[in-house]
Amino acid sequence: MTDFTSIFWDYYVAIITLVSVLGCAVFLWSQSERRAKVSSGPDPDTTGHVWDGDLQEFHNPLPRWWMWLFYLTVAFSVVYLILFPGLGTQFKGLLKWTSTGQHAAEVKAAEAKFGPMLAAYLKQPVEKIAFEPRARQMGERIFLNNCSQCHGSDARGARGFPNLADNEWTWGGSAEAVKTSIISGRLGAMPPMSAAVGGADDVTDMAHYVLSLSGSAHDSVRAARAQPKFVVCAACHGPEAKGNPALGAPDLTNRIWLYGGSIAAISETITKGRQGVMPAWKGILSEAEVHLVSGYVYSLANQPGAAPAAAPAPVPVAAPAEAPAAPPAKK
Ligand code: HEC
Ligand code: HEC
Repeated sequence: MTDFTSIFWDYYVAIITLVSVLGCAVFLWSQSERRAKVSSGPDPDTTGHVWDGDLQEFHNPLPRWWMWLFYLTVAFSVVYLILFPGLGTQFKGLLKWTSTGQHAAEVKAAEAKFGPMLAAYLKQPVEKIAFEPRARQMGERIFLNNCSQCHGSDARGARGFPNLADNEWTWGGSAEAVKTSIISGRLGAMPPMSAAVGGADDVTDMAHYVLSLSGSAHDSVRAARAQPKFVVCAACHGPEAKGNPALGAPDLTNRIWLYGGSIAAISETITKGRQGVMPAWKGILSEAEVHLVSGYVYSLANQPGAAPAAAPAPVPVAAPAEAPAAPPAKK
């Protein structure tokens, strides 16, 4: 209704609505009277129409129950229009109902219902609620509603959007770091580096050197040529290219690529730079929602099968040894 610029349309809608309801009532009334009028004709029970020699159209009134049902719908619409807003913005209905009002009331009821529970979760550390089934489920729902469009519904990411379900983190995988990523957002700032590296051929050399860091297939002559120039990259990626979570500079020695591990993709990263943006959720999600979704993300990389509360250290080595031990532990 607010789209209408003139009040004329309010009256237009209201009048059409009232005239239709009234029209239905009058039509109904005229039809229920018909029988008496026609009964003076030659044959009181037929309309006088005949087909195929002997097929006559009888003029019986509509069934009583049907008429009453119809009258009831007319009465219903009148009551409805008195109680609810159905006649433009000028008459809002006696109940003053609005969809926004209903939504606000539902939100308030939900807050009253879940508030204490959320407050209780907020008091517990992220590492703990990550493995509390109900809290994790709530976190998962928040994730699916807000994060999956970029990180994927399984949180495994896509090109440019990091996988959150593995144990590889650009900005740190501690509960605190994950929560900070969500609250404040992150800006990956890799500047264009072609000026520091040289021409297109030097960039390709550097791409081969980057591949050599993770033991991927590469041209060792080209890689060796580029190696001395890596000092400019080391400022951010570290002297051993293991990355720097404070800057969001990724580890280049594993084979996990945010933007692709081909020579073409790496050369593009070096020449054009990369600016991955993780939006900040402060002010969009409540404190409790951030806490719960942090727990969910934390749970993905720190599988529930592992030690419940303490000692997250042995994760990389534990995987094969843990597998047979897990089922008896659950009983
Ligand atoms: C508009 C897309 C987008 C949405 C929505 C989004 N993210 Fe991100 N997120 C990113 C990008 C891009 C990065 C990587 C930033 C960079 O390049 O360093 C990222 C990074 C992260 C990181 C850091 C990963 C690491 O390796 O350190 C976490 C944790 C994270 N997101 C969690 C979330 C959660 C939880 C939500 C939902 C509340 C969410 N993201 C919603 C785009 C998004
Ligand atoms: C100023 C700091 C900085 C410097 C200098 C820098 N990088 Fe980066 N680099 C980053 C950041 C931050 C990212 C992550 C960008 C993002 O998340 O969008 C990145 C990303 C990358 C990636 C993509 C990794 C992936 O997983 O896809 C490659 C490859 C890379 N850098 C190589 C280099 C090379 C080679 C040099 C030197 C020529 C270099 N960088 C210099 C900060 C830097």
